[in-house]
Amino acid sequence: NLFKSIGNRNAGINSIFRSLISSSPKHFTNEENKASKYTTFEDMTAIRRIEAQKSLLVQVNSEKSHKELCSYCSQFGKLRSSFYYNLSEDLNFILLEFDEISGCEEALRSSSFNEDHPAIPVISPFLWFKARDSSKPKSVDKNKEVPNLIHQEVKCLDENKLDEILTSAETIDDQILILHRLTQLNELGIRIRYLAGHQLEMALNGMFPKIQACLFGSSVNGFGKIGCDLDLILRLNDDCGDITGSRLIYHTKMSRLNGRSQTQRQMEVIGDLMHIFLPAINNVRKILNARVPIIKYNHECLDLDIDFSMSNMTGFYMSELLYLYGEIDERVRPLVFCLRKWASVVGLTNSSSPGRWITNFSLTVMVLFFLQNVKNPILPSMSVLTKSASPNDIRVTDDNINCTFLRDLNKLSFKIENTESLHHLLLQFFEFYSTFNFQQNGISLIEGRPIVKPDHSAIWITNPLEPLLNVSKNVSYEELEKLKLETRNAAWILESTIDKNKDPSSWGLMSLLRSKKRVVKPEMFFKSRIVDVTDLFKDDSIKDYDNISYKNTAIKS
Ligand code: GTP
Ligand code: MG
Repeated sequence: NLFKSIGNRNAGINSIFRSLISSSPKHFTNEENKASKYTTFEDMTAIRRIEAQKSLLVQVNSEKSHKELCSYCSQFGKLRSSFYYNLSEDLNFILLEFDEISGCEEALRSSSFNEDHPAIPVISPFLWFKARDSSKPKSVDKNKEVPNLIHQEVKCLDENKLDEILTSAETIDDQILILHRLTQLNELGIRIRYLAGHQLEMALNGMFPKIQACLFGSSVNGFGKIGCDLDLILRLNDDCGDITGSRLIYHTKMSRLNGRSQTQRQMEVIGDLMHIFLPAINNVRKILNARVPIIKYNHECLDLDIDFSMSNMTGFYMSELLYLYGEIDERVRPLVFCLRKWASVVGLTNSSSPGRWITNFSLTVMVLFFLQNVKNPILPSMSVLTKSASPNDIRVTDDNINCTFLRDLNKLSFKIENTESLHHLLLQFFEFYSTFNFQQNGISLIEGRPIVKPDHSAIWITNPLEPLLNVSKNVSYEELEKLKLETRNAAWILESTIDKNKDPSSWGLMSLLRSKKRVVKPEMFFKSRIVDVTDLFKDDSIKDYDNISYKNTAIKS
């Protein structure tokens, strides 16, 4: 709707801004923080999983089929919500949510398979709505309640439109908030990701009654963009043990393989099953020799790239930790979004291929660390979270990694006195890292302050769940110099383009985010060139060039 109204630009733009930023206070006070109620990651996940169990994705001819589809489906149960998106003119989808799981199950039970297609019948939440036999009358029951059809995008927003909206904002704070609102994963994006997990559970549930697809990464940690990839872990058994107390026990098969080869074999089989039988799953690639064996695939109806693994619960708990840090203060996520965008525009991160550059994950940790280190800290150190943990918070992974920390933020006693604006925090971030002593110090969320660097890596960022490991081990000295240069540059650009009136078409955030038109302060540019060249002669400056992302490499990050 926002972009429909953008068509009528000048008339609508002020009201668009008001609606985009109205719910966000410009000044953040302690009172507001105290008043907020936090949802735990587990509760949020449980709600989303149930939502997926109540939902179906139906391919339709066009959005005009909405009423007819709802009228047809309401015979199975009351409908709660409906979302529409299209991937092309001919690929139109409606995501329907029933009020109860039973409604959805009834709809699935009554669905049939395509008689004209000699395919093997397989159950999934992905269906299509057959056109009505034209000889029969239209069957829309006008008395039935039909949920509103909500239009949302599953693809990234057009850069020119974003540019246009950001340029017309009033302040840099507004620009940061708007960027966040318009690029963050929307409701539909979250729902279809849980539905992708549910598809695997549905398909394999008959054989593995305890199966659970656990979503992690940016799809669930609150730092995901529209269109971000989906990371998921498929667990065939849960940790809860069996509490039924029955005297009848299932016979099961013990594996003779060790943990890793067992995971590889299981993934091999499940990967084949997905490839051969599951609808809409395409382009299945197995990368089983990586440290964390993964299978990559593409979901046709959801337009999603999915990475799935069957081990690595630390990734899941790491996402929970990031989610909690994002919940503590409402400035965290807009700031991370803005910095992720800036880093990708200036070429510090490269989401399409892993390599010697900093990852989005490491950059996010750097932002959190910075917020622990501002004059009046906005985020607590992780040791505060671990010290506040209760017995309910104890989590230890299969490979014995302790992931215990406070889960319920309502029990956190940490006062936020800081009321700085997003704009000032952004500037301080650039200043903080352009002067950070990377040579001697490392970044650690656990301590919440710089630590003595334990080795010679270009950048040391302690893995908060496995403190002996460096999550930025892959980053080269050359990339570190680039980071220092770009943060210096950004601080300078941001300071010199605050005034909207001086250059209304390229001010504030726009001057930072428009890659081609970036202003480069000459002396800084030359200084950095010299550093780059001398670096090439240092022995260890090129080490780890082939250490690619933690998922695709044997090197433990
Ligand atoms: P984007 O996919 O870029 O949007 O962000 P992401 O956070 O999902 O990153 P990615 O898909 O690369 O990784 C998924 C999750 O795995 C992250 O959110 C972390 O929880 C975890 N992770 C990523 N990189 C590392 C790493 O270097 N070490 C460890 N231990 N965990 C990582
Ligand atoms: Mg991801």
